[in-house]
Amino acid sequence: MCQFTSLSGRLAAVWLSACLACYVAAPVAAQDASVNPGINRSYENPDVERLQASLEGERRAIYMYRHAIVAALGLQEGMAVADVGSGTGFITRLIAHQVGSDGRVYAMDIAQDLLDHVVSTADAEGLTNVVPVLGDQHTTNLRSESVDVVLVCDVYHHFEFPFDSLASIHQALRDDGLLVIVDFERVVGLSADFQLNHVRAGKGTVTDEIKDAGFDLVKEIPLMPDQYYLVFRKR
Ligand SMILES: C[S@@+](CC[C@H](N)C(=O)[O-])C[C@H]1O[C@@H](n2cnc3c(N)ncnc32)[C@H](O)[C@@H]1O
Repeated sequence: MCQFTSLSGRLAAVWLSACLACYVAAPVAAQDASVNPGINRSYENPDVERLQASLEGERRAIYMYRHAIVAALGLQEGMAVADVGSGTGFITRLIAHQVGSDGRVYAMDIAQDLLDHVVSTADAEGLTNVVPVLGDQHTTNLRSESVDVVLVCDVYHHFEFPFDSLASIHQALRDDGLLVIVDFERVVGLSADFQLNHVRAGKGTVTDEIKDAGFDLVKEIPLMPDQYYLVFRKR
């Protein structure tokens, strides 16, 4: 064990332990309060019909590119996938078709009304592999090591406690599992006012947060204007 006997040695020890305390405390302090209070107001008691009209509108890039977004996940039959922040579930249903009846899609959201809608629309398509999971701003409630891929599509900037959500996603992924983030670019001077006002952080900050949570960036897939598609692997 290292002992400090001189005054300068003791000062060095104090400085070192203060630095270590800051390093360890930083992520915890960031979770003391929501990083974006109010951003999920419209999802607390969602008007499902109105949300469906806006999320599944032909002018929304994510809806227009939905098949490409799912194709780029590289899914195989039998895989288990979590659609974190599944919203009205149009992506969940596309994933369900890809993984087949031996696979599973966990439609995870914070709004029970949205999950009820996802289940009824999946039933209407005869899908038997969609499992709803209600979570909150701190946990996805996905079981430990239960999924191969997690998709977070237009949802990362809705995470109010990103360190908690990322920790929950990390434990839900199997070894070498993939986390895919689709979100808005946010570049001051270039991005539209909507993006600058609505989205908390740009791609660089998001990437740093995800790396700090125990993931490695594998690749970026250029797919859509104004939005990025990042693939991370659980470290
Ligand atoms: C903009 S919508 C995107 C829905 C869907 N992924 C899509 O692209 O159409 C954001 C969704 O994230 C959900 N959400 C917000 N915070 C969340 C969290 N911490 N964990 C999971 N879902 C969350 C909301 O309830 C809402 O359904």
